[in-house]
Amino acid sequence: MATITVRRPEFVWPSDLPVLPLPEDPSRSCELVALSFTLPYLEPYLIRTMRVATKEVADENLAAEMKAFSGQEAQHYKNHARVNDIVRSKLSPAGAAEMRSLEDALDADYRRFTDTKSLAFNLAYAEGFEAMTFALARSVMSVAEAEGVFPEWGDLISWHLAEEVEHRTVTFDAYEAIVGRYPHRVAVGAYAQAHFLRHLLKMARALQRDTFDAGVTMPTVLKQAVVRNWRNGIIPGTLRVHLPGYDPRKIVIPDDVVTIAAMQGVELV
Ligand SMILES: [Fe+2]
Ligand SMILES: [Fe+2]
Repeated sequence: MATITVRRPEFVWPSDLPVLPLPEDPSRSCELVALSFTLPYLEPYLIRTMRVATKEVADENLAAEMKAFSGQEAQHYKNHARVNDIVRSKLSPAGAAEMRSLEDALDADYRRFTDTKSLAFNLAYAEGFEAMTFALARSVMSVAEAEGVFPEWGDLISWHLAEEVEHRTVTFDAYEAIVGRYPHRVAVGAYAQAHFLRHLLKMARALQRDTFDAGVTMPTVLKQAVVRNWRNGIIPGTLRVHLPGYDPRKIVIPDDVVTIAAMQGVELV
């Protein structure tokens, strides 16, 4: 039996929803919105991988957790797709078209991975991504980081990250059960993180250009992201997942994360 719960929250998006979730920090806002735009392509790819991987797993408990993981990811990307449609409708025609083309490129990559890459690669990609989102959740789920975020955006992000923490062990366990090669997991995991972030930063640049800085360049967007995410702990947390002995079960969940998750109805254990 799975210990992971599939929830179906109903988000009501106001007509005055701002494109930038955190108006005082437009650069961070664009990074968050770009993350939202990647998810309707990344999360279906994870689900496709899990569908194939479940057939290789003998442990019934793990298979049940993998199914529940996919149920959670399906709810995540459907809700992000809804808000992404609203955001796209608020961009200029050129900005919306650029976002569409970046989304199509990411979708094409993930469909190609499903069609042409091995299950071992796809599972290692999934774990590379999940380990990064677990580090992200531990770094940004805090009262200080949530300050000033538009409430509906805040609820979506908090609910999503709470469930990312809840299902933090599933892709790790699936990889270990089916593949279990540390150097391979680290090599593909690092590739996965770089691949994903490259696409995310292109989306962040397009959003910045359309909302507040028409001339921003990729080196500037990259520098902003590195400085911000080094300071808030996401980059150090993500680098540590590549060390031998990394196991998401051994990571202590900060009190703030437990508190914010509970506010979204997610009791972390
Ligand atoms: Fe997710
Ligand atoms: Fe996830």
